[in-house]
Amino acid sequence: MGKRKRTDGGGSTALFKTKAGVIAATLGSAVGLGSIWRFPAEAQQNGGGAFLLIYLGCVLILGIPVMLAETSLGRAGRADAVGSYMKLAPGSHWWLAGGLGVLASYLIISFYMVVAGWTLQYLWDSITGALYAGADGEPARLIEQTFHHKMESYIGSDIAPLISTFAMIVLNIGVLMMGVQKGIERASNIMMPLLFLLLMLFCIYALTLPGASEGLVYFFRPDFSRITWGVAANALGQTFFSLSLGIGVLITYASYYPSDTNLTRTATTVSGLTTLVAVMMGMIIFPTVFSFNLDIDQLRGTTLVFVTLPEVFSQMPGGRVWSILFFTLLLVAALTSTISLSEVSILFVQKRFKRSRLSATLIMMCPLFLLSALCSLSFGSLADLKIFGLTIFNFLDTFATNWILPICALCVVIFVGWFIPKGTFRREVTNDGSVATRLYPVVNFIVRWIAPVLILVILFSSILK
Ligand code: TRP
Repeated sequence: MGKRKRTDGGGSTALFKTKAGVIAATLGSAVGLGSIWRFPAEAQQNGGGAFLLIYLGCVLILGIPVMLAETSLGRAGRADAVGSYMKLAPGSHWWLAGGLGVLASYLIISFYMVVAGWTLQYLWDSITGALYAGADGEPARLIEQTFHHKMESYIGSDIAPLISTFAMIVLNIGVLMMGVQKGIERASNIMMPLLFLLLMLFCIYALTLPGASEGLVYFFRPDFSRITWGVAANALGQTFFSLSLGIGVLITYASYYPSDTNLTRTATTVSGLTTLVAVMMGMIIFPTVFSFNLDIDQLRGTTLVFVTLPEVFSQMPGGRVWSILFFTLLLVAALTSTISLSEVSILFVQKRFKRSRLSATLIMMCPLFLLSALCSLSFGSLADLKIFGLTIFNFLDTFATNWILPICALCVVIFVGWFIPKGTFRREVTNDGSVATRLYPVVNFIVRWIAPVLILVILFSSILK
């Protein structure tokens, strides 16, 4: 137990109840579409094993220290993203960094919600069987085309994806209105282990498919000739996105951590498990792609989860049940992540504008109906509406993920490394000296020197792209 007293001044902020709850909720934020859907797609586009290797390096060298910096900031500040900066650097302009985080989290939810909505539709279609209608008994290549066609016509159809996006927002509002701690903490405690169990079963199944080893070779063998600055920058970006770093999600969640939470252990556990999910997804997707003799270069990133997995399910005994289970869990993974993203702006409104939980939730979530609708329609009727040559969805993704996120992350590490009141970072990492300090100098060095440089690399490579 930590020796110090809680610094939670207001007393109005609830704390997570248990250690497992802290891990599960933080892991729930991290494990989402980023590890399950985006990671295999990124790996495929960036040279398989080479990408994996750099990603692992990034998590270890950069991900864990930055997570420590951000959670330290949140727990020391015990407030929303803006308020935490205000408390620790009163009278300065640092709060703007928190404000930028609130903005980035909001933009990210708006497009994230759309893909989360797709998982809802796929779950529904798995339950009704519509997803598998017409796919029975066809040769493998035709099945691939069938699912490909289903996905394309679904996301381009305007109304159906719009309805699922709205349903997803409503689901978020429902949970967020009730308050996050009890609902989310408890749900995460149940759903996260279940997610791992299912991933493990899927892994075993995929690995026993004939020809699976070819996929594993593609995924694990690094082809060093494919390592470029672009690949490295993408791996860095994926690290930040998959670990929920940089934009105040972890400041917000860490403000709910009890004072005796071991931040180092939390950061390493969450980073390790998130990486494990990503690696397991690779071990499911790539063997499957090779086993079904699909042309890996023909697959666009987005289709991996929504085309390849239904294909596997259509071939598996009891595939419909698997399909239902998988999309349920994908939905839960997406839900725990959208909730963490929404919580940033909700706590911000609650604390800065002294609103009740209910009105803060409604104030921040209602405009999403419009913003997410625009993102959703950008696959259909609004496909030709381009901002700087990108659809609305792609523009927000690029703008928020590649630009604002690194800028916010840069602010976090520079602030914690150089400007936070002296001793605060050490106190948080070591719980006032009650937790071993061995790693602290290394972490501090990374946060001060290495992280800012690497984040600048991501930023410049995005600008130059
Ligand atoms: N990490 C989540 C995922 O991988 C998404 C997410 C939640 C996120 N909170 C975030 C991404 C904060 C960036 C920043 O799906």
